Amino acid sequence: MVNLKQKINAGLYSYCAKPVFFLCDPELMHTFFIRIGEILGKYSIFKYLTRFFFSYQNKMLEQNIAGLKFRNPVGLSAGFDKNAQMISIMEDVGFGFTEVGSVTAQACEGNPGKRLARIVEEKSIWVNFGLNNEGADQIYKKLKGRRYGIPFGISVARTNCRETADEDVAVQDYIYSAKIFREVGDFLVLNISCPNAYGGQPFSEGKRFEKLVKEVSKLGISKPIFVKLSPDLNKREIDKIISLSKKYKVRGLICTNLTKDKAKKSGGYSGKIVEQRSDQLLEYVYKKTKGEFILIGVGGIFSAEDAYRKIKLGANLVELITGMIYEGPGLIGEINHGLCTFLKRDGYKNISQAVGKGVA
Ligand SMILES: Cc1cc2nc3c(=O)[nH]c(=O)nc-3n(C[C@H](O)[C@H](O)[C@H](O)COP(=O)(O)O)c2cc1C
Repeated sequence: MVNLKQKINAGLYSYCAKPVFFLCDPELMHTFFIRIGEILGKYSIFKYLTRFFFSYQNKMLEQNIAGLKFRNPVGLSAGFDKNAQMISIMEDVGFGFTEVGSVTAQACEGNPGKRLARIVEEKSIWVNFGLNNEGADQIYKKLKGRRYGIPFGISVARTNCRETADEDVAVQDYIYSAKIFREVGDFLVLNISCPNAYGGQPFSEGKRFEKLVKEVSKLGISKPIFVKLSPDLNKREIDKIISLSKKYKVRGLICTNLTKDKAKKSGGYSGKIVEQRSDQLLEYVYKKTKGEFILIGVGGIFSAEDAYRKIKLGANLVELITGMIYEGPGLIGEINHGLCTFLKRDGYKNISQAVGKGVA
């Protein structure tokens, strides 16, 4: 029955929906899906039907991590639900958790011009959004007092404008958002790796990163704090971020954001283009820190095999966006179902037992 539902979902998406969607402008389609998701999430009947057709749950996939209950390890990565419109339906699609944002202190329209493109032959997306979002105040109002069936995190980033190119202004910009979301959301993510905002990724550099995490640590936020890393860091930069993250009690690292093409100034690449770099960084961080951080693996997950590989490289949880765009929302149930098959094959009773088992 599960297999049949998954085959029907995958077939309908690949042969009916995707050929039409992929003829349309990617940003227009993104906006369209957000709106549809928002509407579906408001009505119990649509939520029930979505759950019936898409969601797959199994006890083997459940984990308690940092005091949060994850019913499965597959999350929606930051950047799809920028303005917190889809949390309600995402739990029915079958995700185990979701990340809202990235949210910035000031509302932001993002970069001008064309800012999304599909690179179909490489199963990737070029992203040059530039952190378009409604801003921390507005998103806080939407989420205040709301509870959902899955944990959700808030990803905060530096407002994309000329003023925040100044280091101190930028730190205060992050602090503004971090303070607002102190009581909202189950975890907080510091996105220091956005490849398409004014002034680049200044907080990937050690001294600036320390300034940021030191200030955030002073806020005494009790929920887990994650830092999202760029796949383009060198080992020295990663080592520095790891040691400062330990010092300032960061609980987890997200490996990774989009990758930059050095030859091109703007934007970053997702999907299969970033996959190898993300995997390498994840494995490197896991080898260095074995169990000291919660690790989230993201970049290029298009199948249960991809998700399982990241878990075996050290990821406690995984996230995706691009795979869902190329394969459809049925992919989430398919991954969760496939993960159970792999766990049984390898003699594990729970997904947590597979974490890091592929690292020598
Ligand atoms: C359309 C789009 C928008 C994104 N926006 C953000 C963002 O606002 N914040 C962030 O941390 N990552 C953002 N990302 C990066 C993703 O969260 C993820 O790290 C990256 O795409 C690799 O995963 P994937 O290959 O599964 O898409 C975005 C990615 C895409 C495709």
